[in-house]
Amino acid sequence: MCGIVGYVGAGSAAEVIVAGLKRLEYRGYDSAGVAVVTGQPADGAPGPRRIATAKKAGKIANLVELLDAEPLPKDGVGIGHTRWATHGVPNDRNAHPHLSYDGRVAVVHNGIIENFAALRAELQAAGIEPVSDTDTEVVAHLLAQQLADGQQLAAAMRTVCNRLAGAFTLVAIDRDDPEVVVGARRNSPLVVGVGDGANYLGSDVAAFIEHTREAIELGQDQVVEIRADRVDVTGFDGRPAEVRRYHVDWDLSAAEKDGFDWFMRKEIYEQPKAIGDTLLGRYDTDGALRLDELRMSEAELRRIDKIIIVACGTAFYAGLVAKYAIEHWTRIACEVELAHEFRYRDPIVNPNTLVVCISQSGETADSLMAVRHAAEQGAKVLAICNTNGSTIPRESDAVIYTHAGPEIGVASTKGFTTQLVACYLLGLYLAQVRGTLFGDEIARLMAELEEMPATLQRVLDESEPVLKLAGDFAEQPSVLFLGRHVGYPVALEGALKLKELAYIHAEGFAAGELKHGPIALVDDGLPVFVVVPPKGRDMLHDKVVSNIAEIRARGALTVVLAEEDDPEIEPLADVWIRLPKVSTLLQPVLATVPLQLFACELATRKGHDVDQPRNLAKSVTVE
Ligand code: F6R
Repeated sequence: MCGIVGYVGAGSAAEVIVAGLKRLEYRGYDSAGVAVVTGQPADGAPGPRRIATAKKAGKIANLVELLDAEPLPKDGVGIGHTRWATHGVPNDRNAHPHLSYDGRVAVVHNGIIENFAALRAELQAAGIEPVSDTDTEVVAHLLAQQLADGQQLAAAMRTVCNRLAGAFTLVAIDRDDPEVVVGARRNSPLVVGVGDGANYLGSDVAAFIEHTREAIELGQDQVVEIRADRVDVTGFDGRPAEVRRYHVDWDLSAAEKDGFDWFMRKEIYEQPKAIGDTLLGRYDTDGALRLDELRMSEAELRRIDKIIIVACGTAFYAGLVAKYAIEHWTRIACEVELAHEFRYRDPIVNPNTLVVCISQSGETADSLMAVRHAAEQGAKVLAICNTNGSTIPRESDAVIYTHAGPEIGVASTKGFTTQLVACYLLGLYLAQVRGTLFGDEIARLMAELEEMPATLQRVLDESEPVLKLAGDFAEQPSVLFLGRHVGYPVALEGALKLKELAYIHAEGFAAGELKHGPIALVDDGLPVFVVVPPKGRDMLHDKVVSNIAEIRARGALTVVLAEEDDPEIEPLADVWIRLPKVSTLLQPVLATVPLQLFACELATRKGHDVDQPRNLAKSVTVE
């Protein structure tokens, strides 16, 4: 949440920063602003060096319009911000950057400063009146006080950070030191981009990917000072810190829409490739699964007696699917819990518990806190994550990266399906080590997984009926989604996608739960999507088919996602979305994709901004 950019170099900071902000806009779009240090006088009037700012409520387009009318000087040191509002309504005044009382410092911030009220009272007692309603502004004033006492900006930042409670990324400039940008982070992301004669700061690498693919991870409680030709990192205690440099394995083209109307649609269509990339190098030609990144010995893996999956939102639904697969394949008890619930209770974990945190961004505050909570209780923590260098994998004992490439649409799509695949790999690997599945069964499932990119491509190629359906349903006020077993999390995910993109009331239910209450909602013409499991050896399929009959008898309009050759669907489905044949446990990868497309298309037809739905932001870095 909130996107931050900092730049020092020979180019025009304002231009570099606005381009970076556009790539970070998915992190928040309530307001945007830029500040640069300049020796150029304001409005032609002679004057000393100053910080020039431009900021505007609303999307970055509004800021760009302002800058077109009143361009900022082209100096090469500056900071910028795109906001997801926490404290203070989204207006021009509360937009970042915030200036200090003496105009010497400008600051941008992501996170929440929990003790800001006390700090503000202290500043007011010293005669400094706030001009905004934000928690951020206090930092600008506190930094200015330290600079007035003779500290350099990096030292001032350390002093101030040590006084702050909460989660924050801060980036600041000093009017009187026009060659440096200073950043700091605690519980909120900040990455350094290492360029040639220029250096960058960004909430994530998208901020500077068009300039450099060399990045430095910044650790917890660290301050970074960038100049055009050097980067210095210290802890909040002032000691030099060791940093890890890495090469970003995707480039600018991955962060562009590539002819699609939305990033989300592009990411939906990228799923076959993304899944292929998740699988890459993890299954040897000799038939053995390799997950070296688990960093656990086989003896340790055999000792695991419980798995707890923690995650939020869509990633949580991936965890729900994983539970079915992991328990079935490994016979290890597996719980799934919302990360924000887990961290505030007293879970029973011990060194033989494996806590798996699923997070696309690797920065979700609730999930990060759950990881820390688990580690404090002595559990081993494994992250399943898409974002290299992000905080959750860094603070976990091990990580399985999904390698899906950047996910820019706020609603998760390829993030989800690649999380599913990573969970399958984990389950099958544990089964291999613990001997709970026969080798040929693992080989059969792996063959299906390796076929999955092609199978999913078929689903995408045959998606026309779903797109048409979205047109037919554009005026529907409410939609239900039903599923059983692994189809249940798919139903939850289908409903979430529709809520967040189309702003339509949508509910996902376990189909077996219908008769315990939700069936009262079913009325003439209510659209109900039903995920039908493959026709297998157990009764699951037949139970769901009976559920469809029950709702149809009450007037529901049924949209059935079922195997393409299922003989029982035709008479029950108003619309039949045909899925290729796969094992039950793997079906969620296929069944979710039409629901993603349906939500994307419906929202498009309603004229909504699909990539940036209202009130949402990607990477929820506040609690
Ligand atoms: C919904 C969505 C969110 C995220 C959730 C967790 O489309 O994207 O529900 O799944 O905020 O995010 P990560 O996976 O980044 O931890």
